[in-house]
Amino acid sequence: MLDGKKMLFSGMQATGNITLGNYLGALKNWVNLCDEYECFYCVVDLHSITVRQNPAELRKRARNLLMLYIAAGIDPEKNCLYYQSHVSGHAELGWILNCFTYMGELNRMTQFKDKSAKHADNINGGLYTYPVLMAADILLFQSDVVPVGADQMQHLELTRDIAQRFNNVYGDVFTIPEAYVGKAGARIMSLQDPTKKMSKSDENPNASIYIMDDRDTIIRKFKRAVTDSDTRIIYSEDKPGIRNLIDIYSVASGKTIEEVEKEFDGKGYGDFKLAVGETVADVLEPIHKRFDELSKDKAYVDGIIKANAEKAGYIANKTLRKVQKKVGFPERIR
Ligand code: TYM
Repeated sequence: MLDGKKMLFSGMQATGNITLGNYLGALKNWVNLCDEYECFYCVVDLHSITVRQNPAELRKRARNLLMLYIAAGIDPEKNCLYYQSHVSGHAELGWILNCFTYMGELNRMTQFKDKSAKHADNINGGLYTYPVLMAADILLFQSDVVPVGADQMQHLELTRDIAQRFNNVYGDVFTIPEAYVGKAGARIMSLQDPTKKMSKSDENPNASIYIMDDRDTIIRKFKRAVTDSDTRIIYSEDKPGIRNLIDIYSVASGKTIEEVEKEFDGKGYGDFKLAVGETVADVLEPIHKRFDELSKDKAYVDGIIKANAEKAGYIANKTLRKVQKKVGFPERIR
């Protein structure tokens, strides 16, 4: 609790281009939560180096992501937006929690299996313990709630297990966090293979809408989206392509699935795809504008980075000191 509000934490990797999946599954849901919660939104750059990065590129992407948080509507005066690497407590708590996590648990993580298949030449220790660092992120802020897309649920379950295990040994140190998964948009699928999630690391650029794609590109990608040989626009298990487009349109327009089905009853796939493309482009346009403005205002963005890192560091340190004491590290002499 901070000022009587429950704590909320989430983060995004500064790796690759942020997709419509990241936006609809996570970022969009983050915008209005600060009325109810004390919100911390992190750019998780420590996680990013589990895959080899170009340093200049990573720095640029991290800053762009922080600006994107603001451009998407997250008010930096009411939410704490910061870089993970600016708060050393993440790595320090991560180490301690590694000692409370079993290899058997980490072996079961599907994201690790997927990523090690993709990066077979660099299956490093960081990739393996990635979920423990994520647990540290969440527990450091005594988070009650963690808004994420459906793909992060397994990591959330592990976080809860680690916290419970630690609490069983040392008393009530950590708040046990709950996942907050939006009803719609939690799992946006690839436009080229709708049985796979839309992912930043997809090699086919037509598979994903990137948040910074321009209107023409967005419309072109939706036109090329893989569907089926049927003609009906209905929400059905055996029509994964159309179902995904209905999901996207529904979240982007704020209409229910039933309203979408009704609106396109008797219309063709061509009309529907165009409407989805135009609606998504309309949603992203103001974000592009705000992002451009922020890119030109270095002093403003720098000010936010400095102030928020201090705030996050202060809160993080409170938990870290408590944990260090519990596990038996000697007290600091001041
Ligand atoms: P990342 O960077 O892969 O994704 C950021 C957020 O976007 C969601 N997401 C999706 N939602 C719907 N459909 C999709 N196709 C889609 N793809 C991604 C993710 O669920 C996520 O919410 N490990 C995390 C980052 C992280 C984190 C944390 C999150 C590090 N520490 C602590 C929460 C709390 C990750 O890789 O997200």
